[in-house]
Amino acid sequence: MSGLFSFFRPAPPPALRAATAEDAPALAALHAASFHLPWDTAEFERLLADRLSRGVVATDGPRGEPVGFLLARGVWPETEILSIAVAPRRRGHGIGRQLIDHAFGRLAAEGFTTVFLEVEDGNIAARTLYERTGFREIGRREGYYRTASGVPAAAIAMRRDIA
Ligand SMILES: CC(C)(COP(=O)(O)OP(=O)(O)OC[C@H]1O[C@@H](n2cnc3c(N)ncnc32)[C@H](O)[C@@H]1OP(=O)(O)O)[C@@H](O)C(=O)NCCC(=O)NCCS
Repeated sequence: MSGLFSFFRPAPPPALRAATAEDAPALAALHAASFHLPWDTAEFERLLADRLSRGVVATDGPRGEPVGFLLARGVWPETEILSIAVAPRRRGHGIGRQLIDHAFGRLAAEGFTTVFLEVEDGNIAARTLYERTGFREIGRREGYYRTASGVPAAAIAMRRDIA
């Protein structure tokens, strides 16, 4: 019975913290569940060790498993979102917005002023997340991406000032 009850129990609110090298396998798993060209654990280890990178994770409680992450990289005072993903079963409950709020608070505290990103034209969930968190479109690059089925798709470049 306890298994049945735990199925209906709401997920705990996520805890947010800086990403560490130990998170690399979990971030690779989240990335693989979210993108058709996955980055492996070694790639996340490399990115997390890069002095120009800043990562945050959302976990199930303070010591729980990562259920989302945001990774940014750039030369102060400007940076760029390299990747953001939330576990498929946890989407639509505000974790993406909390990752952005938490990461940008940390970046602003370091004196970063501007965040850029590129998003695939047809990625409605991501475009809505970015528009609702204050990003504005600044450009468009036709045919920049290939979708999972190999069709060319435009990249929308966006910008948000955080200072
Ligand atoms: C994009 C992504 C990170 C959003 O995370 P999330 O936790 O589901 O987002 P949130 O619940 O915080 O939603 C943020 C806003 O976007 C909207 N939104 C989220 N998913 C949506 C969808 N599928 N369609 C329309 N709007 C959506 C929400 O309504 C919310 O707006 P509101 O606060 O005004 O109500 C998540 O869908 C994901 O991991 N996608 C796969 C990876 C990816 O595409 N990353 C972006 C690459 S550029």
